[in-house]
Amino acid sequence: MQFDTVIHGGTIVTSTESFKGDIGINGGTISAIAEQLSGGERRIDASGKLVVPGGIEAHCHIAQESSSGVMTADDYYSGSVSAAFGGNSTFVPFAAQHRGQAIGDVITTYDSRAAPNSVIDYSYHLIISDPSPAVLDELPGVFARGITSFKVFMTYDLMNIGDAGMLDILTIAKAHGALTMVHAENNEMVKWMNRRFSEAGLTAPRYHALSRPELAEEEAVNRAISLAKLVDAPLFIVHVSTRGGAEIVRREKLAGTKLFAETCPQYLALTRADLDRPGMEGAKYICSPPLRDHETQDALWQHIRSGTFESVSSDHAPYRADASGKFLHGADAPYPKIANGMPGIAMRLPYLFSEGVRKGRITLGDFVKLSSSNAARVFGLDRKGAIAPGYDADVAIWDPEETRKATIEAQHDKMDYTPFDGMEITGWPQLLMNRGRIVVERGELKARPGEGRFIARKAVDTSAMPGHRAVEFDIAAGYGQEVAP
Ligand code: URP
Ligand code: ZN
Ligand code: ZN
Ligand code: ZN
Repeated sequence: MQFDTVIHGGTIVTSTESFKGDIGINGGTISAIAEQLSGGERRIDASGKLVVPGGIEAHCHIAQESSSGVMTADDYYSGSVSAAFGGNSTFVPFAAQHRGQAIGDVITTYDSRAAPNSVIDYSYHLIISDPSPAVLDELPGVFARGITSFKVFMTYDLMNIGDAGMLDILTIAKAHGALTMVHAENNEMVKWMNRRFSEAGLTAPRYHALSRPELAEEEAVNRAISLAKLVDAPLFIVHVSTRGGAEIVRREKLAGTKLFAETCPQYLALTRADLDRPGMEGAKYICSPPLRDHETQDALWQHIRSGTFESVSSDHAPYRADASGKFLHGADAPYPKIANGMPGIAMRLPYLFSEGVRKGRITLGDFVKLSSSNAARVFGLDRKGAIAPGYDADVAIWDPEETRKATIEAQHDKMDYTPFDGMEITGWPQLLMNRGRIVVERGELKARPGEGRFIARKAVDTSAMPGHRAVEFDIAAGYGQEVAP
């Protein structure tokens, strides 16, 4: 058999096994895996290295305006480059509807941002902030284009769609096999806390974390799940940051609820004490939900190890620590006027490898699941997330021994800080391939803007999840009735 490319001599790692072997690639697809493959127009030596499926970053904000109009520093070029340096061959940022916008226009806008610029494959999750009847009517068309996940917010005044709005979205998503994602924090609790702090003149960054207590997340996680169960729709809870939230997710999964969840490296690496850094340094650590404490970090690692989370995602929300980002409203702006979020798309996998695999908290198989294969399954990327014949040749070659410090430069993004600054990280990707194209090799970018492709995704598969009896209303018959899942 002839191959365009052979990756030889490496240790291939899948979600279930590790073995020494060679990978033969033709036309961007993996066509053979064997102990030894000869030939190949191009031969890539992976001896002494790990060969894993390219990462899939399922939570990142790229070329997206926040609800208050601040544009992320990263566009689809810099964001995809940063993702690739961090071992990701696919990312799924958000296409965000702001109130009053037609969904068709939102998708057209994001296509124009992504298609000419991305160096890796991409799709979007559609953010819905305004579930009007006209918008709901557009959702089946969005789904038909392969955008099979819709995200909603329970917090932020300009995004929060209310419980009834969520039920509408969940119901339509379910009817089409789409997955609803949710940012779960109780908006009224947060607003009440904000008012109290504001009245007391407490506006430094540290009060951001205190204004969004654990209970605000736990209440909203529980409520989001209740809403999804009422209509037996699948639900994905993004950026779980609390022990209580994780425990609810775990309990509901064991009860058969069609539920998925993620957490993020910042909740494992940092604490709310980082918001106390001198001056306005703390503003760099403002994100929502906020950073917590060391006990929470331990609890989240336990949940990662025991399978509560499908993925560890970056929630890359790159707002620079200058007047274009965090300090748009002044260098000493009160915390409610400081953009939420921090960069992390390049550090997600090195951090997970270093703190997870190297420190014995997770196995290599877990690393593959949390970084790639679970996201492929949950978000309907059916040719991605595995090293097996017939799959896209999306491959990352990792040096498990290389130790480097996290730096701004190592992010290869447009940011002016990294929250992981100075952390010693062991295990870095050396080569990143997307559909057979080398994107990054030995610290050098090899791809050109626009070489990444939009990937039409499939419906979420919940066939193995029992679910619950749903209440559905037969309007014609004039009564509500329970239907089996
Ligand atoms: O603080 C964060 N996470 N900012 C990005 C927007 C969001 O809530 O995901
Ligand atoms: Zn969020
Ligand atoms: Zn986010
Ligand atoms: Zn039940």
